[in-house]
Amino acid sequence: MIREPIRIALIGAGRMGRTHLDALQRAEGLSVAAIVEPVASVRESVAARGYRTEASVDALLDQAGFDAVLIAAPSDQHLELVLRFAGAGIPMLCEKPVGIGTAEAEQALAAVQRAGIIFQVGYWRRFVPELRALRHRIAAGALGEIVQVSCHQWDAESPSAEFRAHSGGIAVDMGVHEFDQTRWLTGQDVAWLTAASGAGGAQAGRDPDVAVILAQLTGGAAATVSLGRTFPHGDCCWVEVFGTGGYERIPFIWGEPGQRAFGEALVAQANAFAAAVRGERQLGAGGEDALAALTAAELAAGSLLDGQRREVLARVGA
Ligand SMILES: NC(=O)c1ccc[n+]([C@@H]2O[C@H](COP(=O)([O-])OP(=O)(O)OC[C@H]3O[C@@H](n4cnc5c(N)ncnc54)[C@H](O)[C@@H]3O)[C@@H](O)[C@H]2O)c1
Repeated sequence: MIREPIRIALIGAGRMGRTHLDALQRAEGLSVAAIVEPVASVRESVAARGYRTEASVDALLDQAGFDAVLIAAPSDQHLELVLRFAGAGIPMLCEKPVGIGTAEAEQALAAVQRAGIIFQVGYWRRFVPELRALRHRIAAGALGEIVQVSCHQWDAESPSAEFRAHSGGIAVDMGVHEFDQTRWLTGQDVAWLTAASGAGGAQAGRDPDVAVILAQLTGGAAATVSLGRTFPHGDCCWVEVFGTGGYERIPFIWGEPGQRAFGEALVAQANAFAAAVRGERQLGAGGEDALAALTAAELAAGSLLDGQRREVLARVGA
């Protein structure tokens, strides 16, 4: 029996974990029961804010006292953590991408389906009001037949070498957001794609700071995804969509107001997760969505290496 409020344990108190912590404090019907963080100095810094901390998932499970978890550990640890909590029957809000490859996402999805638990994935854009309104207008036909979707995610700073090593690379780490957003907004899947990076990028054996992906969607629209990590203006995300009957350009992350919008979306995402744990209809992305986004992103990562086109639908159907 789930009690009120939902007691959530945060798994990983790094950059995103601490951002979630701020959102969880503002969410309704949730309390932070514990934080699992293996690095002692990070653990001490959150303990100093009054939180119960544990050095490992084992210690958390031994002590219990929580109803659900939010996984914000490095992407290459997602599968292990999902298997662990699924085995214990714990509902999860898991950060994207749910593993750094489709084999991991498939195993994670099978485990949560077997366990029959709530499994929500951190595609927070699904909780941005302007994007929700755009999705509604597209579904209602207000833009006519969708012809082109253009997604931009330009970050201000390159991540550390340590982060990159556990992230799956730019196409996975950043690209999954755009593939999830495109599928969710348009209701169309990716049929095929090709990708290119800047000079000295993937083909030179590095995780590039620029990647551009061209895709054909199953409903006939063309899509482009532009990813960058050294944008002087700051962290920015926007989407443009045009159809036979209308056009929308939504810069949902742009400057200081954009950071506030990001925080608000994380609060809404946490509220939706808590409601799902309480038995309400699950909103937000699920395991199948994570697998679909990762399938396209993994193929885009391959295309960055050789410039060749990848058939995404064939892979999904395989
Ligand atoms: N949705 C978004 O917009 C968004 C943005 C940034 C990051 N992320 C995702 O969040 C995750 C974390 O990214 P980050 O930027 O915070 O990375 P980070 O490296 O800053 O933080 C990861 C933290 O997890 C801790 N950790 C490592 N192993 C752990 C374990 N087994 N159990 C608990 N904690 C563990 C690390 O010590 C570190 O403090 C990644 O999966 C990333 O893709 C999502």
